[in-house]
Amino acid sequence: MSNKILTKEALIPGQTSMLVIDCPQIAEKARPGNFVILRIHEKGERIPLTIADTDPEAGTITIVYLVVGKSSALLETLKEGDIILDVCGPLGKPTHIEKSGTVICIGGGTGIAAMHHIAKGHHRAGNHVVAIVGARSKDLLLFCDELGSFCPELLIATDDGSIGHKGFVTEVLRERLEKDKSVSEVIAIGPVPMMEAVSKVTKPFGVPTTVSLNSIMVDGVGMCGACRCNIGGETKFACVDGPEFDGHKVDFNELRMRLAQYKDQEAASMDLFRR
Ligand code: FES
Repeated sequence: MSNKILTKEALIPGQTSMLVIDCPQIAEKARPGNFVILRIHEKGERIPLTIADTDPEAGTITIVYLVVGKSSALLETLKEGDIILDVCGPLGKPTHIEKSGTVICIGGGTGIAAMHHIAKGHHRAGNHVVAIVGARSKDLLLFCDELGSFCPELLIATDDGSIGHKGFVTEVLRERLEKDKSVSEVIAIGPVPMMEAVSKVTKPFGVPTTVSLNSIMVDGVGMCGACRCNIGGETKFACVDGPEFDGHKVDFNELRMRLAQYKDQEAASMDLFRR
């Protein structure tokens, strides 16, 4: 396992990048929904990232990250040919995929990359995959060509209306659900408000809804409790019990609170890094 960065591509310059990393063992075992934890140097923070694609024959995995704090900014300094100190995975439970008919996969922002891997899994299982993607504007959409190559329906929503529906993915979703009562599942990956809003839309339709939680993680193997979340009144660990859970049972308020708990430290750390 070399953990060598084979290719690096700026998907949204200065904001979102994609790495193809040489990790044959992970590439062979990873399934849609799994994630990896990266560590760039010995004292570095452990960065959990959902796997966006794998190529078991080439022995590679693809990850996409948003440059949002010190650790992702540090990751962004690496170039093609550099080695990532640790790539640990595949972690988490893979997405439950079976032939079930029509599945709607929704991705927002960088979540589109992770959703792409799950959508591909459903397509391979023989499901009719409806992909709904959303971003602030056309330039911030990811993986549309890839999704369009295997999804019979690709629906787009942008805040500014630069492409597709002007508005939110939830409006597109509601319209699609009203038109077709046979949707077997909805899967949403992206910002917390989006996943919460999707779960609210699907509830009255009675459509099972899965969301992928981006909890703060440390060890990623169920020992530290950092990623705990409340699912239907029960405490679960996103790293080993998830990261995917029933969206109708997730306590999104608690998730939001836990995600914000180190905001000041994160900002101070980024500030120091920039100096
Ligand atoms: Fe430590 Fe999940 S990250 S228990």
